[in-house]
Order: sequence, then C-alpha cells, then structure tokens
Amino acid sequence: MTQPGEIMDDPLWYKDVIVYQLHVKTFFDSNGDGYGDFAGLIEKLDYIEQLGVNCIWILPFYPSPLRDDGYDIADYVSINPLYGTMQDAKNFIKEAHRRNIRVITELVINHTSDQHEWFKRAKAAPPDSNERNYYVWSDTDTKFDDARIIFIDTEASNWTWDSTAKAYYWHRFFSHQPDLNFDNPEVTNAVLDVMRFWLDIGVDGFRLDAIPYLIEREGTNCENLPETHAILKQFRAALDKDYKNKLFLAEANQWPADVIQYFGSGTDECHMAYHFPLMPRIFMALHQQTRTPIVEIMRQTPDIPESCQWAIFLRNHDELTLEMVTDEERDYMYAAYAEHPIMRCNVGIRRRLAPLLENSRPRVELANSLLFSMPGTPIVYYGDEIGMGDNVYLGDRNGVRTPMQWNGDRNGGFSRASFAQLYSPPLMDPVSGYQVINVEAQQLDKSSLLHWMRRIIRLRKQYKVFGRGTIEFIEPANRKVLAYIRRYENETVLCLANLSYSPQSADLHLEKYAGKTPVEMFGMEAFHEITEQPYVVTFAPYGFYWLLLEK
Ligand code: NOJ
Repeated sequence: MTQPGEIMDDPLWYKDVIVYQLHVKTFFDSNGDGYGDFAGLIEKLDYIEQLGVNCIWILPFYPSPLRDDGYDIADYVSINPLYGTMQDAKNFIKEAHRRNIRVITELVINHTSDQHEWFKRAKAAPPDSNERNYYVWSDTDTKFDDARIIFIDTEASNWTWDSTAKAYYWHRFFSHQPDLNFDNPEVTNAVLDVMRFWLDIGVDGFRLDAIPYLIEREGTNCENLPETHAILKQFRAALDKDYKNKLFLAEANQWPADVIQYFGSGTDECHMAYHFPLMPRIFMALHQQTRTPIVEIMRQTPDIPESCQWAIFLRNHDELTLEMVTDEERDYMYAAYAEHPIMRCNVGIRRRLAPLLENSRPRVELANSLLFSMPGTPIVYYGDEIGMGDNVYLGDRNGVRTPMQWNGDRNGGFSRASFAQLYSPPLMDPVSGYQVINVEAQQLDKSSLLHWMRRIIRLRKQYKVFGRGTIEFIEPANRKVLAYIRRYENETVLCLANLSYSPQSADLHLEKYAGKTPVEMFGMEAFHEITEQPYVVTFAPYGFYWLLLEK
C-alpha cells in the first residue's frame, strides 16, 4: 500500500509517465530577484498537476558560472543560491511526490565547470598525480584527432591550454568545461557519491548528460567506446544495489544502432534513451507531407529490451539537433525551418515548437498527437503546452529558454523584478508575446491549446498501450497518410494522421481486424465496422484519429 506522500511502487513507472521538462530559473520567481526559484516552482505545482504530466525533469540547478546554462557545474552537491536553498529543493521533491509526480534531475558526468574545485585542484597538482588525473591532459593538442567538435559555432579544438598546469586539457563541449577522466577510478567513485547524494534526497532518476564521450582512445572517434559502457555498468550496478524504482535516461545523440548499446542487456545500463533521429523526421514528414521519413526511421530502429523505453520529444532546451540526419536532409531542414541564418545554431535550429510550425494550431496538435502515440515516453518542453514562441536574437540557445508566460501582467507574471533585472527578457512580440500567449488566458478559454493538451494527456494516461505497446505500420497508397497500430494486451489502437495541408482520404487494408468497430477516443463515437473491404477514411487538413478497435 502506498502511504500519503509516498510515490507508487512500480519498477516500470517510466514507461507510463508523461514528462514535463523545465528549468527552475525559467518557471516562476517567488522572491522578485529576476530568476525563477524552487519556492516559485512549488507554487506552480498545481498548474503542472492540472496539465496531467506526472514526471518533472529539471535542468541543472547547481552552483555554476552559467556559461552553459548550468551544465557547467561548479559544485554537484549544492543549490545555486539564485534558485533557493537545499531545503527548498527538498521541499519541492516532497511536494511533487505528494502529487504522485516523479522528479528526474541531471547527472552531468562527462565534464565539470573549470570553476569546480576538482579542476582548480587538478591544475595546481603535480603532473601524473591523482588530483591532476581527475581530468584529461596532454602536452600537445593533437591527441584524439578523430574526435569531432560538437559546438562548432564556438570551439575550434577539443583541447585548451592551461597556463597553470602548463598542459592542454580535453573538453568535448565549451573550453570552460573540462572533461572528467573516467580512466581514473577515483573519478568514478567521486561521481558515484554525487549520484548517491541525490538519490538519498529522493530524486527518482537521472538524465545522464553526454554519456557517449566518457572515455577517449587514440585512433577512435572517442564515442560509444566499450570502456564507456563498462563505466555505465558500474553506475547501474551501484544504483540497483541500494535503491529501487530509479531511472537512468541516456542522452546519447547517436544513430539507433549505437543508442541501443546504452540499454545494455536491458538490466545493466540505462532504462531509457532519447530517440534523437525520430524527432527531426517528424518535422520533415510534416513539411514534405509524406510519412516516409517517419516510417523509415522507425523501421531502422531495432527492438529494445522488454524493460527499456525510448524517450521521445518534439523540442527541448537545445537547438533542434540535426546531427542524426543525412547531409541532404539537413539542407532540407534548414531550408524548410531556418531560412534565416540567425535561426541556426551549431548543427541545428534554435526555435520552439509553435513558431517552427508557423503557429498553426492544427499542425501543433498533429505533431503532439504523434508525440503522444509513437512508441516511448513523451517529454513536453515547458511552454510548448501554451504554444510559446522564441527569440532567435538572444544568442546561443537562450531564445528557447525565456520566462514562462503566466499572464498579461508585467514580465508576463513571471517575476516582480524590474525588467532589467530579469535573467532574460520575456517575449513581447505581437505574435508570441506574453500579452497574447499566456497561461491565464488559456485557462479561461476552453478551446485553447492548453485545454487541448490537458485533454490529450488525460486520454493517453488512460491506456497503457501508448507507453508499452508494439507498433505496426499500415501503408495505404496515399503517402500523405501515416497509419499505425499500437497493441498491448487487450488494447489495440489505430493511429491515423494526415500530414498534408489539404483534405485527404485513404483506403486502409484492415482485413485482419474485420468485425471490429473503431471508436474515436476523444469523443468515444463509434465509426463504421471494419470489414474485409478496404476501410475508407477521410481527413481534414492535418487531421488525426486515435481509434480504439473494439469487438
Ligand atoms: C547536453 C545539454 O543538453 C546541453 O544543453 C549542454 O550544452 C551540453 N550537454 C554540454 O553540457
């Protein structure tokens, strides 16, 4: 029996949840200093609960120079004072759990900030000492030459000279983010202590940031190496030894065949991993008005172990990454979704969901219908539930990290601070500004996107098939129509989507299901019975159906 305030005992909980991703900084400022904080987040938990999501993934909230929005961690076991105190963070976790909402935090293990004590100590320590060897050093900047540069907009090399250490240090991301050296067992132990620290406080799982890059070896591209998997297995063994119902979510921006390695045997590495290649293909399919990109990538996706799960998403706090597409596909995506060069960032596009889809309500709904019905656990990026916009002029990826828009008051109701004090200007443009797009207005308006999102989330949660079921594509001659069957135990759902801006019809071969009656799941209205004949369906532009196949 679950006690009040105690979260449900279910080792596979991550298969059925809907994740809401947010940064404490961006959500709600309770003390008027211009930064969102844990106390503010607690005040807004009712909103999150009403949305229907039941897991919150919070971006890094540790002390940090904030040169990579907190992914540059200066201390793993404290709270950035801008966001509150350790007690505030603990209260937040308790309050979330009381509402049966799980909390996932970040375990950024590949690198630290150059302001972390470990790095300051390493620079000052003698070469080859254990302290120095917390990081990866070299006398030259030519080692590991086959490793690509990830942040191509800002970095020219993966090595940076340190004048105190009189050596180069290795970094896969910004030059102020030295990579930890996992060839040093002390590093693994130190990071395991960090993991245990947060598990003891009560977090339900970790997003493992940038894990393909833990280990470097000459003559390789330094990604997905067997030694890296061996480290992750040590982490998982430590997790399972003392804790239950916890989660590892792999951030491995790789092709499906490489990503599945992060599931290990199913019980010895990560429970979940993002499906990075699917995301851009949803946008491609919508722009090309054809199901091909989606069907092809799902066909190339290997089966995953029974206990594992994909994490799927439309947008997040980073650029819409185009690393997992071909060169031609990337050119296409840039032309279709980032015609202005300022919209591009590294290998991707720094825009939010609604503006990417030209603020078209039917397209936003269609994209979300795919997010909530494709195999995996869906992640909703804060603000996308109200169709928030972006500001591509803010530099780096800050344009998709602007304050949450609560109402039409000053600063969009996010903060009582003076405008100049805010961590970022809120959106104020005539299309996406807080005067137009905000929670309060959408709560009052029953036909708003927010109400629609609540409905689809509520519906999805009623059926286990979406999180757990198999997928089988049906291929009608009309390629503008995407059709797939999801099945789990006695639940069978036929999902249909018109990817085109014009009305369509399709003949579906559903003989296998003859005798069943499709019931449209939003309205619970029965459609005509399936027979041995092709089943004809007509669609409005960007229309979609979820049809429960009943006897
Ligand atoms: C992945 C995070 O998603 C991104 O925001 C960050 O910049 C890199 N890791 C490097 O820390």
